[in-house]
Amino acid sequence: MSALILRGAPVAEALLASLKSEVTALNPKLVIVQVGDDPASQSYVRQKLKSCEAVGLRTEHRTFKAEVTLPVLMKTIADLNADSDVTGFIVQLPLPAHLQPHVPDVIKAIDPKKDVDGFGAYNLGKMFLSTDFEHLPPATPAGIIEMLRFYEIPVEGKHAVIVGRSNIVGKPIAMMLLNRGATVTVCHSRTQDLKAMTKQADILIAAVGKAGMITKDMVKKGAVVIDVGVSRTKDGLKGDVDFESVKDIASAITPVPGGVGPMTVASLIRNCVTAKKRQMHS
Ligand code: GUN
Repeated sequence: MSALILRGAPVAEALLASLKSEVTALNPKLVIVQVGDDPASQSYVRQKLKSCEAVGLRTEHRTFKAEVTLPVLMKTIADLNADSDVTGFIVQLPLPAHLQPHVPDVIKAIDPKKDVDGFGAYNLGKMFLSTDFEHLPPATPAGIIEMLRFYEIPVEGKHAVIVGRSNIVGKPIAMMLLNRGATVTVCHSRTQDLKAMTKQADILIAAVGKAGMITKDMVKKGAVVIDVGVSRTKDGLKGDVDFESVKDIASAITPVPGGVGPMTVASLIRNCVTAKKRQMHS
């Protein structure tokens, strides 16, 4: 058996096409704040700007040298919160080493109505309530949910096993799957018998950032495998899943690159549209 390959591009294209008329009608604006020149961030920001341009979403890219001070960054955030022309903004992560310990303060300073990354406590907290309150979900979990919907993969009653407990992927995707009726297990670096857990998964989500760590022997026959990991290796970009062996046992699997990645930018754009609509009605 060879797995169905779950490509992100057709899903992202469909979502972007459906958002285009709303972008035209509502005319939202996204500001991307970038500090320093982290190579991965450069590439992600380029992709975000390109997709925004393709759907006609207004953008502004504010760049700062790596040495920028916390007060200058916080003043920028306060100005963006106050600027009524700005629908939403994101501060691209990671920040340079001297600012990284202040990431929680930076995220906390963003007005929840403009937090289109969905990283703040208000937007994350609302996700605990139900699907009805997932207004500004983080882009990667939202992208995974959209892919499962597009490829008609049932979630209700399934056992979803998530490897990774980050605030931006592992924890929010756990809540979104729980909201949709899955039984959810969250595994992490302290999990004692990881294989015993992953073997139970109907839907296995790997979000660790350790190339090839999910091997064939850890996957149940017929499982749906979603790979969120992206590692730069000497052989190019690699996911957390050993794709070549796992594809022979899974029923469906996302490739890296070309799987979840393309979805994240589309989800960010959807959040800009949602944020604009909600600001108009508040
Ligand atoms: N760095 C990697 N992914 C993201 C993201 O979705 N948002 C922000 N702000 N930084 C990131």
